[in-house]
Amino acid sequence: MINEKELDNIRKFATPSRETGYTRSIYSYPAKFLSRLPRELIKTFTQEGDQICDPFVGGGTTGLEAMLLNRQFFGYDINPFALLISRVKTAYVSKVNLQKTLEIILRDIDLSRVPTSNFLDSIDKLCLGPLLSNEINKIASIVKTSNFNTNLQDFFNLALIHVVKIVGRRDFEERKNWQYQSIIPMFNRKCNKMIDAVSSLPHSVQYPPKLFLGSNHNMDIPDHHIDFILTSPPYLEVDVEYQHIQIQRRSIKKSKRTNFISHLLETKPLPKKDLCWSGKGGNSYWMNLENSLNECYRILKPNHYMCLWTGFKKKEDQAKLISLIERVTFNMVETISIPQSNNRAASSRSTHHTRDTRMFKQDSIFILRN
Ligand SMILES: C[S@@+](CC[C@H](N)C(=O)[O-])C[C@H]1O[C@@H](n2cnc3c(N)ncnc32)[C@H](O)[C@@H]1O
Repeated sequence: MINEKELDNIRKFATPSRETGYTRSIYSYPAKFLSRLPRELIKTFTQEGDQICDPFVGGGTTGLEAMLLNRQFFGYDINPFALLISRVKTAYVSKVNLQKTLEIILRDIDLSRVPTSNFLDSIDKLCLGPLLSNEINKIASIVKTSNFNTNLQDFFNLALIHVVKIVGRRDFEERKNWQYQSIIPMFNRKCNKMIDAVSSLPHSVQYPPKLFLGSNHNMDIPDHHIDFILTSPPYLEVDVEYQHIQIQRRSIKKSKRTNFISHLLETKPLPKKDLCWSGKGGNSYWMNLENSLNECYRILKPNHYMCLWTGFKKKEDQAKLISLIERVTFNMVETISIPQSNNRAASSRSTHHTRDTRMFKQDSIFILRN
């Protein structure tokens, strides 16, 4: 049983803060955990070798912290892009191997014989201009057609997605002659930063995280198997860009969501109602969450804990969550308020201007026991 002292301790470190080091900052997934709190919660609720699950794993924060603390980990997400980030964040690759591969990519960009496929649609191209579009397609094609292993493909795809995100931003367009500036130096810099991060991960870990692409409504985990669940479901009715990148071009009055990530990963974009939207009847968010919570209840060992971190725009929605938790027959142990951080709920739009895009005054951690 968790005691008052441990609860006090959680309250003390409840203000989210960003920890750096390892791969923690290689890609900022929307609505991600800031790593200090998950790390502390894992230390409070589990011991080495225990089994942890994050059924909404997103960018893999929990998986990375669990791995670094020698815990076994199961992560699920329906978004292939989330899984890509989680994989890159938790897989060690040697510096030499990454550097050698980067050299090949940079060398091949200049070769005209490399066949180039199209990962951008005509409006993406109109917004980005011919030079940038061509370079993006070229790098994506090289990564796809060379015989790199999965870890390397994932790594360079993620670096490229980061670059597309930067060049799509409004402030990039404000740079002088941006259409005529090659993205190769930026790609090179990002890759080198990521190389340092990925090669700093432990070479061999006792428990490599197990990551699954798919809905947590039906997890391939036996009943009462998990020691601790730590998770953060999508925010209700908050338009977070889990799977798209915004391209904003004031000069031609265009702001669009590119499907570049889906094209690159050869997946179909997921409908919003599966991610965070209530859908037509207004209920799909709650029905989805109920299925997820029932499944969490099933896999958790008796008398073990689940921490659910979320926030709502309306008080009545928080009350709705509490009654849902009770319906699933979890015991509500404690609700701890965490001040909202600029880095958390807001979408990528908040990262390049100073406007306060926080959507809630605070988030809460709901501590449940089954
Ligand atoms: C708030 S984010 C999690 C962020 C994560 N805590 C992190 O640190 O990056 C919620 C995630 O839930 C995923 N998701 C939504 N419905 C799901 C479902 N039914 N099964 C699995 N994942 C789901 C979304 O794709 C999204 O990545």
